[in-house]
Amino acid sequence: MVIDLMDKIVSLAKRRGFVFPSAEIYGGLSGVWDYGPLGVLLKNNIKNAWWKAMVQERDDVEGLDSAILTHPTVLKASGHVDTFADALVECKQCHVRFRADQVGDVCPECGSREFTEPRMFNTMFKTYFGPVEEEAAVVYLRPETAQGIFVNFLNVLNTTRRKLPFGIAQVGKAFRNEITTGNFIFRDREFEQMELEYFVKPGTDEEYHRYWAQERLNWYVRYGIKAENLRLRALEPEELAHYAKATVEVEYRFPWGWSELEGIANRTDYDLRRHSEFSGRDLTYYDEETGQHIIPYVIEPSAGVDRVTLAFMLDAYDEEPDKEGIRVVLRFHPAIAPIKVAVLPLSKREPLIRVAKEIHRELRKHWVTDYDETQSIGRRYRRQDEVGTPYCVTVDFQTLEDNAVTIRDRDTMAQVRVPIPELRAALAERLNTD
Ligand code: GAP
Repeated sequence: MVIDLMDKIVSLAKRRGFVFPSAEIYGGLSGVWDYGPLGVLLKNNIKNAWWKAMVQERDDVEGLDSAILTHPTVLKASGHVDTFADALVECKQCHVRFRADQVGDVCPECGSREFTEPRMFNTMFKTYFGPVEEEAAVVYLRPETAQGIFVNFLNVLNTTRRKLPFGIAQVGKAFRNEITTGNFIFRDREFEQMELEYFVKPGTDEEYHRYWAQERLNWYVRYGIKAENLRLRALEPEELAHYAKATVEVEYRFPWGWSELEGIANRTDYDLRRHSEFSGRDLTYYDEETGQHIIPYVIEPSAGVDRVTLAFMLDAYDEEPDKEGIRVVLRFHPAIAPIKVAVLPLSKREPLIRVAKEIHRELRKHWVTDYDETQSIGRRYRRQDEVGTPYCVTVDFQTLEDNAVTIRDRDTMAQVRVPIPELRAALAERLNTD
């Protein structure tokens, strides 16, 4: 059953154009994925919903888009060059490599019990800056978007004149040379993060940590993830990253068990302090109330876009029996659904197609829409259900007489008739719900 649901999602994702293995025609690249026509829409909707809640609707957060190529001293200061490593072991019989903390006593590939001693393996990707490789400086692809925020702390503070507490948000790619990848898009080598660094006065950090953990949990529920599939879990001291005083994870009940969707870490003043030390720049904040220069503490909610996308797909997936066998439905929240409205003429006859195309041309100015005139209407509804389109607008022969169309609801399959001049408002009322 567990495997069943993952298999169904992986196959649906491929078949309908959500996610493809990267460079598939060359055998793929392990832990690297390409998002297809529907996948890019879904992922953009998730990032936009995050940005809306974390930046647009708040008056204490600024946005940022910093570079992926990272100055090596940034990652030396952050501790990543020295400590961002996993212990790797190799099976002596089949030579497959595993993360030491993820493999038991027996090799899952060949059953051997003999492994090499663990050795540390830094998971950052290096590349070379400059045209001549031997002379060029090593730079890194960022392993988290967070460091771009810390090194821009002063720039943002000076240009916006923010007072504590305030945050800087960023969405973008991150890269980790994971020893083992897997569970489809759950653990990748190239992925995206949505991160907020929320700077606070020392002493208020624990209160804001609790606040952000709850806010982030609420965000998933707001966009339709079932509350019973979510939980918060405080990490044990031995599980904490090198920079964290405490971390709470939002976990999702994946088919293989509860696993991390995002981490909300209390990074204390670790990063700004280290960057002050390594750069020689004063990264303190002048507190007008006390007349003191302080290094702010930071609370960091950090989510992975790809694994959040997987959770949205798994959670939305539903099957129900119908006349033709099984109806597959992705019950996405309207804000998350890749296509919002599909316009379907009942038949391919000219007058219907003309009206349907006219309606489609008008609606696509406002929403991502689809137009489909192939196959039976029942089949076309099923195709839209399977990719989570919340509403279908059907143009039938009666439309030519009453200038009205039918809106069909994905979840209830109920149909209501709406005059064409009122269609846009009727859809807006249904779609703009977040
Ligand atoms: N700046 C803090 C940070 O990067 P993290 O726990 O290492 O913390 C944050 O990563 C989030 O990024 C995770 O909760 C996860 O959603 C996502 N993430 C991390 N590594 C990933 C990987 N290899 N593949 C996909 N997502 C990943």
